[in-house]
Amino acid sequence: MHQGRESFGGRFAVIMTLAGSAIGLGNLWRFPYLVGEYGGAAFIIVYILMSFLISLPMFMAESVIGRRSRQNAIGAVHSLAPDSGWALLGYLSVITPMIIVSYYSVVGGWSLNFLLKSFAFEFNKIGPEESLGLFGSFISKPWAPIICLAAFLGLSCTVVALGVKKGIEGFSKVSLPLLFVLVVIIAIYACSMPGAKGGVDFLIKPDFSKLTGRGIASALGQSFYSLSLGMGIVITYSSYVSKKENLAVSSLGTAISDLLFACLAGFAIMPAVFAAGIEPNSGPGLIFQSLPYTFSKMGVGAPWASASAAIFFFMTVLVAAMTSAISLVEVGVAYLVEEKGLRRGTASLCVFGGAFTLGVFASLSTGPIQDLKIFGKPFFDFLDLFCSNFLLLLGGMLAVLFVGWKMKKEDVFDEFTNGGTKAFNRKIFPLVYGVIKYVAPLALAIIFFTNFLGE
Ligand code: PFF
Repeated sequence: MHQGRESFGGRFAVIMTLAGSAIGLGNLWRFPYLVGEYGGAAFIIVYILMSFLISLPMFMAESVIGRRSRQNAIGAVHSLAPDSGWALLGYLSVITPMIIVSYYSVVGGWSLNFLLKSFAFEFNKIGPEESLGLFGSFISKPWAPIICLAAFLGLSCTVVALGVKKGIEGFSKVSLPLLFVLVVIIAIYACSMPGAKGGVDFLIKPDFSKLTGRGIASALGQSFYSLSLGMGIVITYSSYVSKKENLAVSSLGTAISDLLFACLAGFAIMPAVFAAGIEPNSGPGLIFQSLPYTFSKMGVGAPWASASAAIFFFMTVLVAAMTSAISLVEVGVAYLVEEKGLRRGTASLCVFGGAFTLGVFASLSTGPIQDLKIFGKPFFDFLDLFCSNFLLLLGGMLAVLFVGWKMKKEDVFDEFTNGGTKAFNRKIFPLVYGVIKYVAPLALAIIFFTNFLGE
């Protein structure tokens, strides 16, 4: 362990920081859409089962790697399996979040811009066509999205530069409770709009006929994505969790917060979409194209109503994206500080430089260079598909294989039960270990092939 290494201060801090990473753009646009697509409550039931039975044990596996070694992702793997081919897991765990943060921050930049537009009352009187046009014209500009990307990424890197306790923990402890308050206010507001019932039905009416095999694989994939697995984040954050903390409790707390937020986001978004008579389509389009029109409808006769709904909503998107981006940045910073001896500030600047450079190309690929295709896709889409369908799954697979097959079972038991002192952890260990060793690798292989065949 490195001298003077920081730790999170207690259970609340641990859950807020881990949940801060988990709760992000994935909860706000991907989850509500999937719920609608695959049979409403039927999908939610399967999602809950997948989260607790498969993704949660995977989360525990990555937590064990992090806290056992108390090092950055590369150092962690190296210290637990020196000079072996497992080093690939360490490298992948640092490279993947570096790539992801570059295009994730492009979307973070869009949310910053839309928040500013909300403050300027720009969504007050727009029609559906204008709503689409507003987003399209913004992302096709060369400079404005890049400036927003720089601001979003700069803010995230600044929080990381401030340190694990002062920066990351301090920011998460304030922003996570704020996110829950905001999303509850929006959900109440959205559900009380005339015409909202369609959206509520869309979310809660179980339709098992729509729950196909692909729907089940999507539920698992989404719970995996949402818990920020397979990309070194859980390893890195858990390395700051004190040896006294109960890993089962912090993992469970994170999974429950993430699930609750995803459901609340569904109730905040879908009723508003239905009330405005908009088709619930997939992708960031739902957030940036459809909802501004919904806000304008809310404000008939009361411009402040539109503006405040839009401000609350884009503030939620921005803060949720930022706590996730911070966790993505921290993985690279922890590596540069501990393995390369850089200071935190310099390391954050390096990560900013690398992610910004890649992010500029991702940002330009939604406009000026959209015709420049890689494997038939614009650069932004290519990065997203490559990371979500390949790198993340490979990282997740290596992590569970590492804990299940490489680490000694006694060591995993010792770390998970705090030296055998936690009775509940001792009880559930055989189940958790069995999932990590056999079920999780199989489940990841299934998602991989479903994605692959679907392309
Ligand atoms: N778990 C976060 C989210 O759902 O938005 C963060 C994240 C996960 C970012 C996976 C990127 C990613 F590929």
